[in-house]
Amino acid sequence: MALPTPTGLCLLLLSLGCVIPCEVHAAGTRQGVLARRLRSDFRDLKPSAVYRKARQAQPQQARQEEPGCPPGKEVQEVDEMLVLYSDAELQACVDGTLLATQLDRVDALPFTYGQLASLKRKLDQAYPDGYPNDVIQRLGSLFPLVTPEDIGKWDVKSAEMLESLLRATKGPNSEAQVAALIARYVAGGAQVDEGALGTVATIHPASLCLFSPEQLSLLQPRLLWEVDPGALKDCPLPQKEALYSKAQLAFQNLSGPSYLERMRPYLGGATTEQLRVLSQKNISMDMATFKELRREAILPLTVAEVRGLLGQNVGNLKAEEWHSPVWDWIVQQRQEDLDTLGLGLQGGIPNGYLLLELGDRGARGAYGRHG
Ligand SMILES: *[C@@H]1O[C@H](CO)[C@@H](O)[C@H](O)[C@H]1NC(C)=O
Ligand SMILES: *[C@@H]1O[C@H](CO)[C@@H](O)[C@H](O)[C@H]1NC(C)=O
Repeated sequence: MALPTPTGLCLLLLSLGCVIPCEVHAAGTRQGVLARRLRSDFRDLKPSAVYRKARQAQPQQARQEEPGCPPGKEVQEVDEMLVLYSDAELQACVDGTLLATQLDRVDALPFTYGQLASLKRKLDQAYPDGYPNDVIQRLGSLFPLVTPEDIGKWDVKSAEMLESLLRATKGPNSEAQVAALIARYVAGGAQVDEGALGTVATIHPASLCLFSPEQLSLLQPRLLWEVDPGALKDCPLPQKEALYSKAQLAFQNLSGPSYLERMRPYLGGATTEQLRVLSQKNISMDMATFKELRREAILPLTVAEVRGLLGQNVGNLKAEEWHSPVWDWIVQQRQEDLDTLGLGLQGGIPNGYLLLELGDRGARGAYGRHG
């Protein structure tokens, strides 16, 4: 027996009532049109009998269809009739692969959330190992229902695809979706380059924190001009450190309070060296911001450097005298240096004591009387 041609195979399957795969393969071709016409002729004859027969003859197929699609409600097309189906009927009567080919029509129809959830379940059943890319990019109104687990199965390789998917995220899941997309993109071995980082910075800056400090080193500083200052304040420390250097470059043409304002989200990542640079910039940092700097970064600063940082606000040290991190810093200073501030700060290393570096830890202490 000769192997059936694709069309022949379709017709053969049709006679078994298996209409959907044929439509998938032949949709839009002459054979597709023919197949649809033949199929509807067939349906007009004895629809439920055909359907039953199909289920007996094609157990594979029948499982996909699920039991319980009421006679006459079999779905051959995604059209406005489906809006009248109950969630359970959609679950029972829609085929996931058919849905996949006609996804674009879903957006135009006023489905309820429950109906959309049923439709998405059909896609999940049709593609248990993850949707193909052409399906992913046409999810439309099903996108808000996508879970991070779904995204974990996708193949997100190109920066273009990442961009279009990031733009598609919406709904209460969007944060988790974005995180999952980026994790997927990075885990999939896609190259994290300037372009991909730029995309993320523009669309969802908070997610920059999901990249490693090494990856962030590729970020173009100028992009930080577009980033909402609040977006990055919860980044982990290593990422903040990487972003601080970028911000320093990005905002170098500013000074004074406007510089401080732009740098504020990144200050938690500043090192001692960077704070020293900052202290030259006449920013008059407020005490609340000062207290949020890293304690280890503050401790090695000299009195002159802290005065430079706080500017007009230096007097506020007095109120914080007994609290960390100000107290921790005070006890590392020479009392005579503290006195130059004229604030009456006490607790510094008494005059005449020798200041020694204690090696590795950079801690300092006073040892013995000098002279
Ligand atoms: C600093 O540079 C940015 C971007 O390059 C620009 O938008 C901004 O107006 C500049 N600000 C000043 C004060 O020059
Ligand atoms: C420092 O900033 C203050 C305002 O915050 C300004 O009055 C002062 O002139 C600035 N000093 C220098 C040296 O730029």
